Amino acid sequence: MTRRAVVVGTGHYLPERVVENAEFEKTLDTSDEWIRARSGIERRHFAAEGETTSSMATAAAKAALDDAGLTADDIDAIVLATSTADLTFPSAATMVQAQLGMTRGFAFDVQAVCAGFVYALCNASALIASGQADRVLVIGAETFSRIMDWSDRSTCVLFGDGAGALILEAQTGAGTSDDRGILSTDLNSDGRYKDLLYVDGGVSTQSTGHLRMQGNQVFRHAVEKLAKTATTALERAGLDAKDVDWIVPHQANIRIIQGTAKKMGLSMDNVVVTVQDHGNTSAASIPLALSVGKERGQIKPGDLIVTEAIGGGLAWGAVVLRW
Ligand code: ACO
Repeated sequence: MTRRAVVVGTGHYLPERVVENAEFEKTLDTSDEWIRARSGIERRHFAAEGETTSSMATAAAKAALDDAGLTADDIDAIVLATSTADLTFPSAATMVQAQLGMTRGFAFDVQAVCAGFVYALCNASALIASGQADRVLVIGAETFSRIMDWSDRSTCVLFGDGAGALILEAQTGAGTSDDRGILSTDLNSDGRYKDLLYVDGGVSTQSTGHLRMQGNQVFRHAVEKLAKTATTALERAGLDAKDVDWIVPHQANIRIIQGTAKKMGLSMDNVVVTVQDHGNTSAASIPLALSVGKERGQIKPGDLIVTEAIGGGLAWGAVVLRW
């Protein structure tokens, strides 16, 4: 018998303010047409003044708890993936813990930029497999609008804010790939690529900084590395691409999503796509897509799902799970 981390609830939160591509035409030498054609993005949500990563994360967490029919008291741990925490410390996860009224268990943040949610899922799965926790709230939440250089058209049109959450629960499986829950994972990073995607500020340099990206270089790495990590994770579960019902990819660029699906020999009919409505919400993009995909009726119990993401670091990875 094998302890598996099974998804029992999903939820998400998107800020009220929606910004269409055309709005950038007023201040930048760009166009709706360029943004759609190069990225697939049509609109994104931006957090209101006073809205923070932890407040959005809490809203998504409450929705996931409702969906699972649970309360904060039922949760043993919170793992929150973010690169845009409210404060340098304490972690955004402990702020969510307080906002949920949860007075036991433990909470911590994971920072792997756009790959953060994949890293957080791996951590949560290990906590459950080891017996440290029976129920883990896993959240991805970001306010990337706070680190945009609004004069840089090559980055500021691509990102958005939001939060998504899953509740993972320990259930016993037979130890085969027919089990529900997380079946396998694959994590990677290569710090030599720091300059391709980074924020040019931080605590020890005494500034907040702005996101800088060599988009075409990141693009080149993305398709190759994402297809490889997804395939490796599937192999670890004794599965291959033909077993996959849904790829739920990091939502950075529709061309990366299409390229990865093609390299894996899968049709776009097997891909949950939200990039047109959310833009790139970094660590929030996968849990947002999982929650929206379930709401749309795409993802159903028993479906085999591969999530994959790449981001600053470079850091990348994949998780295979049966819904
Ligand atoms: N509007 C109009 N023109 C633009 C814009 C814009 N918003 N932005 C850039 N351009 C111009 C460039 O200046 C360049 O002009 P030039 O040829 O005169 O120099 C031209 O468009 C082409 O630029 P490229 O960067 O080569 O365009 P590309 O087709 O690569 O698309 C994009 C750019 C969308 C950024 C793409 O490279 C991409 O999606 N990259 C990957 C992003 C990603 O996946 N990031 C990882 C996760 S993010 C994270 O971890 C935080």
